[in-house]
Amino acid sequence: MVIIEREHAGRRAAAPETVAAVGRLQELFVWKNGEVRSGRDAVSVWDHGLLYGDGIFEGIRLRDGWLYRPDLHFVRLRRSAAIVGLDIDLTDDELLRGIAAVAEANRLRDAHVRVVCTRGVGLPGLDPRRCIEPTVYILAYPFPPYLGETALSVIVSNVVRKSPRSVDAAVKSLNYLDGILAKMQANAAGAGEALMLDGEGFLAEATAANVFVIRDGELQTPLPTACLAGVTRRTVLELARELGVATHERRLSVGDLYAADEAFLTGTAAGIVPIGTADGRRLRFTPGPVTTQLVEAYAATWHDPQYAVEVVPADARPEVT
Ligand SMILES: Cc1ncc(COP(=O)(O)O)c(C=O)c1O
Repeated sequence: MVIIEREHAGRRAAAPETVAAVGRLQELFVWKNGEVRSGRDAVSVWDHGLLYGDGIFEGIRLRDGWLYRPDLHFVRLRRSAAIVGLDIDLTDDELLRGIAAVAEANRLRDAHVRVVCTRGVGLPGLDPRRCIEPTVYILAYPFPPYLGETALSVIVSNVVRKSPRSVDAAVKSLNYLDGILAKMQANAAGAGEALMLDGEGFLAEATAANVFVIRDGELQTPLPTACLAGVTRRTVLELARELGVATHERRLSVGDLYAADEAFLTGTAAGIVPIGTADGRRLRFTPGPVTTQLVEAYAATWHDPQYAVEVVPADARPEVT
């Protein structure tokens, strides 16, 4: 297959397989304010989520009908909403039922689930009082590990991660432009992912994943001051402690990454992905022993009732073709 690329100031014609996959996404059902409906035209062009990025979201994994740590995702969703002053008029049970309904409507047992809450439709003008009421969408769609399953090359971007002085990085907002600009730098450099620094130059996180380094058998990750407090990050810290690995949440420099024995990224969409090189410098082990142990321990939690909830019961599961 010939893929024609037109490079004009960063613009590129989409690959045919991307066009086809987007076409399939358009056929999926979505959940909007309590109703399962076609995803086509589900969003109004007057929604402030589109006009101003005024909204927040969560990304949750559904694996074989089991939803991973929904309680933690719902707590973060409500915290993001509280910080930006959005009311989510839904209980956790209603959210779980909405997720189950949309997964079943789309005949999915493995999916990335996205709960998106926007300020809703309103008059143009960014004052939230110009909107009628918040809108909640739930999407469920196939999504293989976002960063692939092999070791990543990362670059350190010069795009500064959102600072607590603007939009707190703890808010999982509909504004990802810092990450998108950093990702474009990684693409241009031929790297798999970009890491962003905080306003003071310490490691913050990747564009949609947290970062960990291992040095002398100890696991270290940046404090959640300029990064999202990831659910996978928290899980990995908990599992490491259970495995007897010392953990530290602290400031980390780019030098700490270069000098690491092992390093990896974590995220709901990405899973746990080892870093192979950072700015072209090869890490000592990829994946190293600690990373390998954590990858195995993490996978062992996916269907453990302490971590996951079965929302699409076995007998309701459609055959996956
Ligand atoms: C900016 C950012 N950082 C980190 C993460 C990882 O968080 P989690 O493990 O909760 O998916 C994500 C993914 O949601 C993200 O978007």
